[in-house]
Amino acid sequence: MVGKICGTGSYVPPHVMDNDDLAKIVDTNDEWIRERTGIGKRHIIEEETTSYMAGQAALRAVEQSGIDPEEIDMILVATSSSETIFPCAACEVQRTIGATHAVGYDLNAACTGFVLAFNTAQAYISAGFCRTVMVIGADSMSTLIDWTDRGTCILFGDGAGAVILRAQDGNPVCMAAHSDGKKGPALTQLSRHRKGWENEQNKESYIHMDGQGVFKFAVRKVPEIIEEVLEKAELKLDDIDYFVLHQANRRIIEAAAKRLKVSMDRFPVNLEEYANTSAATVPILLDELNRDGRFREGQKIMLAGFGAGLTWAACLFEW
Ligand code: UT7
Repeated sequence: MVGKICGTGSYVPPHVMDNDDLAKIVDTNDEWIRERTGIGKRHIIEEETTSYMAGQAALRAVEQSGIDPEEIDMILVATSSSETIFPCAACEVQRTIGATHAVGYDLNAACTGFVLAFNTAQAYISAGFCRTVMVIGADSMSTLIDWTDRGTCILFGDGAGAVILRAQDGNPVCMAAHSDGKKGPALTQLSRHRKGWENEQNKESYIHMDGQGVFKFAVRKVPEIIEEVLEKAELKLDDIDYFVLHQANRRIIEAAAKRLKVSMDRFPVNLEEYANTSAATVPILLDELNRDGRFREGQKIMLAGFGAGLTWAACLFEW
């Protein structure tokens, strides 16, 4: 059995901050941000929350798929910024969409979270445990960043994306996933719920990142894992219609495409509009491409994510 996408949805908050707005807060400018990252603006929550955005994306996916929410067996939400530790965001989504027969849980692997949740859902479907799974990536990165640190605050935005997978006869998808815990310090966000946090410097409670270290890791590991999945699938780069990568920095995507010697035409990018929404980048982009009518039945799509942990993962599936 294999999980086929039967509906997608996404939600971003209406409040927009462009690069000029950021230049009023930190020492930066539109030209630097565009040139170094490809980012033009980001959507930022006001009253909304991570699970609210996840629920809205899920409702849109349900509407597009035409399925009855009671058919959903499982809801997985990839997030590292839910407004509650518990109940998990997935149970909030269950309530929002009325998926009364589903089990829901969250999965945290930062920016790699959605691809890992997608792989997890595919594994449940292939094993015959589930028939219909909602997979969501949702993050409110604006609640985690230090708005006085120009090295990180320019990169991130808020949003959520969702896909619904339905079991169909067919071979399981090809996937791969890795972690390197030794490189964990390259990208950290300490929990505000740890003992003694209130006595520490407030700055400790925000994202810390070795930008160049993460950049180099991504440029090396993304092409590697794509090749790994292709080898398992006994396919070639030319067989892939779209490479849907985690949207962290346009230059990372360009460098990965160059290493693989694949034209950027097959690497869609939407950083200009949304910036890096962490676990939400891949499903938001999938929803955009789907609603633009870019996908055709039988096309081969490679997902690849990378991020804190450090973690990286990929999945090859047919539309
Ligand atoms: O989801 C995964 C999350 N993380 C990532 O994907 C991050 C990956 N890394 C990156 O995207 C890039 O490393 C950054 C965009 C974070 C930084 O770009 P960079 O080309 O690596 O810049 P840099 O850190 O080497 O800084 C170059 C210069 C420095 O000035 P000097 O020392 O050359 O005078 C920085 O101080 O740019 C300066 N700079 C800025 N200038 C204007 C750093 N941040 C900014 C800024 N505005 N926001």
